[in-house]
Amino acid sequence: MNDVIKPGPETPSQAAGLPLLSVVVPTFNERDNVTVLYRRLDATLKDVPWEVIFVDDNSPDGTWDVVRGLARQDSRVRCIRRVGRRGLSGACIEGILASSAPFAAVIDADLQHDETQLPKMVALLRNGEAELVVGSRYIEGYRTEGFNSQRAGASAFATEIARRALNVEIADPMSGFFMIRRDRFEQLAPQLSTQGFKILLDVVATAHGKLRAVEIPYTFGSRQHGESKLDSMVALDFLGLVLAKLTHDVITLRFILFGMVGALGLLVHLAALFIALELFKAPFAEAQATGAIVAMTSNFILNNFLTYRDQRLQGLGIVRGLLLFYLVCSVGLLANVGVAFSVYDQEPIWWLAGAAGALMGVVWNYAMSGLFVWRK
Ligand code: GDD
Ligand code: MN
Repeated sequence: MNDVIKPGPETPSQAAGLPLLSVVVPTFNERDNVTVLYRRLDATLKDVPWEVIFVDDNSPDGTWDVVRGLARQDSRVRCIRRVGRRGLSGACIEGILASSAPFAAVIDADLQHDETQLPKMVALLRNGEAELVVGSRYIEGYRTEGFNSQRAGASAFATEIARRALNVEIADPMSGFFMIRRDRFEQLAPQLSTQGFKILLDVVATAHGKLRAVEIPYTFGSRQHGESKLDSMVALDFLGLVLAKLTHDVITLRFILFGMVGALGLLVHLAALFIALELFKAPFAEAQATGAIVAMTSNFILNNFLTYRDQRLQGLGIVRGLLLFYLVCSVGLLANVGVAFSVYDQEPIWWLAGAAGALMGVVWNYAMSGLFVWRK
């Protein structure tokens, strides 16, 4: 298990010029940063055979194009351009799994992480002292330039929640800067979530303390070009990850969001029904049908915006998705009524039957939407 990896000049892999370290860099709109980062890696990794794998989610600023340019000059540069997908965790996972080197590092493209720590991290993995090395902001020696106090506070609070809820021992599980043995990562990969930002937290929570981790302090610098992609949605992603891990993936954030959107849909339905009846003096059946269509449409829009924002439908896909969503929900309504009816038949308790039907409807809509409307 704790074997030491020592590719030196004597091993065939190095003789063949194969990398010991793959540096995985997730990018989204980092056009002005990637070349600088590449040069810095080249300067700092003099004694380590390395490659860099940029994983770009089809950045509108054409980051991938700049990376292709670098790759044409230096075969150690690789580019994965992903289309139709967004997400930091997913990009990191894909990058690491595209590597065949014994060690993989993840580092941000925006030069906020300190790449000069990489040789030290390699040394710790190489001599077997660690299987995971984390660039940490919460241990002595850490300095920050890129964090305002509000964000630092929120980050410290979230870290505390994560550490308690998931029994995570490292000080900075939210760090986006780490290096890991690829064989260990491959073992964990099938259980990792591709949604969200917190890949390291996911890795350590999934490993259940079975990954020997060492933390080293580094200076979190300030961003040179472009802007941060972390928005308020990240807090949601974080809660979702904690929840999913605590319940062994039974309850996911997606399902909760979907359920919340559904509950809101009920209110929308009632409001539309009221307006149709009172303002437009529509007959009840037509007013009810109008309410249902309005509610389904608003649910679709909200789910596309929130629940499935990492695979948001666009353009013509929206029309197709909406029609499919109507279909899914109509069948869901039949399932809802069917279940409620049979429960009521056995036990005439109106709220129990109603709740059972509603739950059935939500589970159905959720499962079918994932299969047909927002399929991967
Ligand atoms: N491929 C891909 N897809 N890359 C992304 C995406 C995405 O959807 N979103 C962000 N990135 C890339 C950015 O281009 C950048 O290289 C890196 O991920 C980090 O994104 P930032 O937007 O700069 O995040 P941050 O600086 O606010 O937060 C970072 O540092 C924190 C502290 O270490 C992240 O690494 C956090 O995870 C980390 O907690
Ligand atoms: Mn950043």
